[in-house]
Amino acid sequence: MPTIEPEAVARPQPSLETERLILRLPEPDDASVLTEQANDAAVVRYTATLPFPYTFEDAKGWIELSRTSAAKGRDWPYVIVPRDAGAPIGAIGLHARGDAGEGLVGFWIGQAYWNLGYASEALAAVLRHGFETAGFEQIAASVFPENAASLRVMARAGFVEVGRGPEPTPARDQAEHIVARFVLERASFTDTGTDAR
Ligand SMILES: CC(C)(COP(=O)(O)OP(=O)(O)OC[C@H]1O[C@@H](n2cnc3c(N)ncnc32)[C@H](O)[C@@H]1OP(=O)(O)O)[C@@H](O)C(=O)NCCC(=O)NCCS
Repeated sequence: MPTIEPEAVARPQPSLETERLILRLPEPDDASVLTEQANDAAVVRYTATLPFPYTFEDAKGWIELSRTSAAKGRDWPYVIVPRDAGAPIGAIGLHARGDAGEGLVGFWIGQAYWNLGYASEALAAVLRHGFETAGFEQIAASVFPENAASLRVMARAGFVEVGRGPEPTPARDQAEHIVARFVLERASFTDTGTDAR
């Protein structure tokens, strides 16, 4: 099996911890399990950035890119690791968009782990980090309007829909798809203190 050479990360990204989850920087050894989880049409179809099929090389490339971009301080990529599983079940990332204090968040969870509250718990931790540590004024997300589970996660986190419009899904096709655009302002962020610690 191919291996990835670990490279130095100039500015280590701290892990985030919640009651059930550890969110940490992707590591080279995560490539196999990420491939297993993400190579699933049901996971990929509602994301803009995952290709399908999702190969080991795709996972390897994402891990390398994540580790490089995290070191530059404008991206916070995490794998989502339940404490009781010990291996990644998905990923969540925060990205600085432009220079106006806006972050963009995106996430996915392997299908075997849906509806256990993991996306909501991971998102709460990343939002807290985005507002309190990274200093974003607002955090945005784009959701396919037919993605009922993600709409529920957005609503529970306090995001508000601000409009709909076409966005490309460059990893899979050149077509544009209608997405619902959501925003959460720093002032509207409610840190429950229960989902993340
Ligand atoms: C969207 C996604 C991340 C949610 O992950 P998850 O860990 O299952 O999310 P949670 O368990 O925190 O919350 C899911 C919520 O959606 C609800 N839900 C799930 N399927 C639903 C459906 N078909 N209709 C309505 N609600 C639904 C669940 O009941 C739950 O709400 P509740 O806690 O109030 O009961 C996961 O489904 C996924 O990875 N999908 C594919 C990729 C994707 O869509 N990524 C997000 C792009 S914006």
